[in-house]
Amino acid sequence: MPVPATILVGVQWGDEGKGRVADWLAIQADVVGRYAGGDNAGHTVQLGEQSFKLHLIPSGILQHHVICVLGHGMVINPERLLAEIGNLAAQGIDTSPERLLVSERAHIITPGHIALDSAHETALGDQSIGTTKRGIGPAYTDKIKRTGIQAGLMRSPEAFGERIRQHIENVNASLPTAASALDADTITAEYTAHAEALAPYVTNTVPPIHTALRSGKQLLCEGAQGTLLDIDMGHYPYVTSSSASVGGALTGLGFGPSEVERVVGVAKAFSTRVGSGPMPTELHDEVGDRLRGTGDNPWDEFGTTTGRPRRCGWLDGVVLRYAAQVNGLTELVLTKLDVLSGFETINVAVAYEIDGVQTEDLPGNEAEMARAVPVYETLPGWKEDIMHVRDWHDLPPAAQNYVNFIASLVHIPITYLSVGPERNQIIVL
Ligand code: IMP
Repeated sequence: MPVPATILVGVQWGDEGKGRVADWLAIQADVVGRYAGGDNAGHTVQLGEQSFKLHLIPSGILQHHVICVLGHGMVINPERLLAEIGNLAAQGIDTSPERLLVSERAHIITPGHIALDSAHETALGDQSIGTTKRGIGPAYTDKIKRTGIQAGLMRSPEAFGERIRQHIENVNASLPTAASALDADTITAEYTAHAEALAPYVTNTVPPIHTALRSGKQLLCEGAQGTLLDIDMGHYPYVTSSSASVGGALTGLGFGPSEVERVVGVAKAFSTRVGSGPMPTELHDEVGDRLRGTGDNPWDEFGTTTGRPRRCGWLDGVVLRYAAQVNGLTELVLTKLDVLSGFETINVAVAYEIDGVQTEDLPGNEAEMARAVPVYETLPGWKEDIMHVRDWHDLPPAAQNYVNFIASLVHIPITYLSVGPERNQIIVL
């Protein structure tokens, strides 16, 4: 009996490079499903001169043989989805309803949710979460409160429009007076039109996924954000509102753990975080600036969705070990190893000191995590540019040593290294 599902999860705070890894793994996949989050995510895949920026559609769309699913764990902004479909089509990618399925159970993000997200962040002041202001939290709030709007209603555009109108009127009644009321008529008309355009894409995605699984086809589940942003696994409230780690793949696409063969974690060779919340290895010096890059390249450490500079620091082995445990990782992919070239020495956090006590365990609460001081192991760096390297044996010994050290920290094999933004800048181990 084949076990054809692979789940791809980010093991840090998102932005690990899952998009380019998904693009790579999708070569062997038949169906690629995105299971959580919304257009807060930003995945960049560089193919030659072309840079593809994806927010909702799985990166698998760039492999022409693949069927893509937007799963019911997602929250979908119809306007953004249509824009993304249009942009990809303009870049020569087939985005027809035959290869892009949107779950009827997914929930819809509206301008009302976006307004509420902003209002909530403003009200929090210096305690704000630093959300992407894409309406993610309010859309999931409506879903859990059972007042949300499911994508399936878009198959009846008029009824969908009326539901949107009611919702916008409700939002207007609850917005703080300082926020300007939304124009329910305009939004209703726009969203009715969006529903007409998207209706052919909306379907019950469970049967096609299981037909594929039963016929031995390969399902790749593409995560968004990362384990430390997961609503349950991260440091609440500095998290996103969805299940970004392994469990979200099962509920967000609708299949069971017995189908899963591989759980592939993606880690960047150093740490980054956007938004507020604890990050023990964050660097506020020239090393942090160097890891971030200047922003001149699309792969520098500036948010794909918001353009915000990312907080940067050394790799956090405590985070990696935790993510390996809670996701049951079978393997790890390490991205952006090339960015570490040229450092004299490289630090990796192997434990934390919290209130004078050393621990290798990740704290379960935000306050303790905020007091965690990293305990570093210092490894030798390497001078050579490694972006052209395609074979493990051609890596400088210090780079091999760094990779081996990380594998021994997490007790799982590292199977791929990325050494540049291009599709082929990958070393298979
Ligand atoms: P939200 O998902 O927009 O509600 O934001 C909640 C937190 O998750 C904020 O700290 C965001 O910066 C962070 N976040 C959400 N999506 C991503 C992502 O794709 N990459 C990195 N951080 C993200």
